Amino acid sequence: MESFKTIEWKDDRVIMLDQRKLPNQEVYVECRTSEDVARAIKDMVIRGAPAIGIAAAMGIALGAVNSKRRGKEEFLAELKEIATIMSNTRPTAVNLFWAISRMMGVMERNIDRDIDWIKEELVREAKRIYEEDLETCRRIGKVGASLIRDGMSILTHCNAGALATAGYGTALGVIRAAFEEGKKIRVFATETRPFLQGARLTAWELKKDGIPVTLITDNMAGYVMGKGMVDAVIVGADRIASNGDVANKIGTYSLSILARFHRIPFYVAAPVSTIDFNCPSGESIPIEGRDPGEVTHIMGCKIAPEVGVINPAFDVTPCDLITSIITEKGIAQAPFAETLRAFI
Ligand code: MRU
Repeated sequence: MESFKTIEWKDDRVIMLDQRKLPNQEVYVECRTSEDVARAIKDMVIRGAPAIGIAAAMGIALGAVNSKRRGKEEFLAELKEIATIMSNTRPTAVNLFWAISRMMGVMERNIDRDIDWIKEELVREAKRIYEEDLETCRRIGKVGASLIRDGMSILTHCNAGALATAGYGTALGVIRAAFEEGKKIRVFATETRPFLQGARLTAWELKKDGIPVTLITDNMAGYVMGKGMVDAVIVGADRIASNGDVANKIGTYSLSILARFHRIPFYVAAPVSTIDFNCPSGESIPIEGRDPGEVTHIMGCKIAPEVGVINPAFDVTPCDLITSIITEKGIAQAPFAETLRAFI
């Protein structure tokens, strides 16, 4: 189990490992207000779908604890404002909206109780979301490890690890569980331009756990697959549409096509909270466009002239290219429109 805490509720503060600074510095950021938390999500201090959801929940709890409003109506109005601020941080990961609505549900169900009780219950709910995510990741790991054979080489993209969740991870959870079962596996981590989650975060996490990892640039994926060096691809997800289309880090779609061409199984590991049953297909998933500076610069250093740039943070992998979706409730296969429903 990893030796760091991605996020933690401590003495009415939210403490986060600053993922922008990894792997060179291991520093923690202390959020004292809900605005601090919203900024941390937007600025990528914390990232990864489940971790963003946990942060938003803790941010709402923090806003509630800090509230000076005495009347129920005013208190509720303030919480709604905070929920709106949280929901405007990052648009693609559905876990954010799932966690916000869970927190607001606590408020609405207990509107008749006194404000201090509601505040405490919101803190308890945020902690529950954290604990449940940890447990969910462990289950995803256990379920998914059944697909991993001794000696396998697994390619993963971006970071779907302990840093992207309460701990343990989803795609990396499967890898961790297989490793803990004694299977001799090795991992190819794609560097994941432009934000380098693979190079900076996945390589760091796996190295810390002693799991053999080889770093490649994104454009080496075809090479390693063509040479027969990859037995499976496992990635996380930011939002899964009800037909099984998967939004995940930009570059995931290209990897799924490469995997199909080379007849390599392509697995997605995610909690059921990442499935958006209101979303019929990938076409309706909002894709975050980020600062062009992330493309023109690497770690603050300019690498391109002044030209037009696009920076979509995610892409959609059509369900036809996915072998299986691994969740804490089991493994789904096509037709996903039917099999995913069983997890509601
Ligand atoms: O932009 P990020 O770093 O938040 O993107 C993260 C990903 O795309 C992950 O693969 C996804 O959130 C799953 S994390 C368990």
